[in-house]
Amino acid sequence: MRKNIVAGNWKMNKRFDEADELVSGIMDLLEKQELPQNTLMILCPPFPYLEMCTDYSNDSYFAIGAQNVNDNDRGAYTGEVSAEMLNSMEVEYCIVGHSERRAYYGETDAIVARKVDQLIKNDIRPIVCCGEVLEEREGNKQFEVVRRQITDGLFHLSAEQFANIVIAYEPVWAIGTGKTATPAQAQEMHAFIRGLIADKYGKEVAEATSILYGGSCKPTNAKELFANPDVDGGLIGGASLQAEDFVNIAMAF
Ligand code: 13P
Repeated sequence: MRKNIVAGNWKMNKRFDEADELVSGIMDLLEKQELPQNTLMILCPPFPYLEMCTDYSNDSYFAIGAQNVNDNDRGAYTGEVSAEMLNSMEVEYCIVGHSERRAYYGETDAIVARKVDQLIKNDIRPIVCCGEVLEEREGNKQFEVVRRQITDGLFHLSAEQFANIVIAYEPVWAIGTGKTATPAQAQEMHAFIRGLIADKYGKEVAEATSILYGGSCKPTNAKELFANPDVDGGLIGGASLQAEDFVNIAMAF
């Protein structure tokens, strides 16, 4: 059975002391209330806080993910972080192809594909983001866009490699805007993505792939989003910066 996943993407937020407080707040809440069965929590802090978070995660309440990785092995790439480094720090997941990286840092589908390869080579599971911008949705181009992102970013993988992939559908018009996709819109796109995977790798691989929704997901709307058969959890931005909100979203399965 595929996993339900709630992943917190902190983006570029919080000082170190605040980050420490957030993780210990999440731990305190999870000590009182166990996560629902088959639910995995992942925290994706900024790079400098990874070690603090992996230290906490030794108590195994959650797994740790990075927010980005470089697409080269190693070498003279000032300011960059490799998959090999993440692996050596017990990081288990990494977000790739987030719309903010596509929009502000020129992350193309070809770069996403290279980053995914680096992560898989280093035993880190990629959380690969896809999603259309508002004009694309208004022009009814959302399926075409997502098909391209998934095909060009991921379909060079073997079925065995693809088994490591988590997908996050994040309609760009819903990120940080307070405007959530309706449960029906999320389900429609998630089913479409699962169909693409089934066509390429077969039904078994498609059924085993966790597909998360992201974009203004909050404790108040998580339950109706996660109730859909093809929505296997969420990639949470703003609401993951507050321990109680984030844990409440994880309890929504
Ligand atoms: P918000 O939850 O703040 O809309 O962000 C979603 C997101 O981009 C997660 O990666």
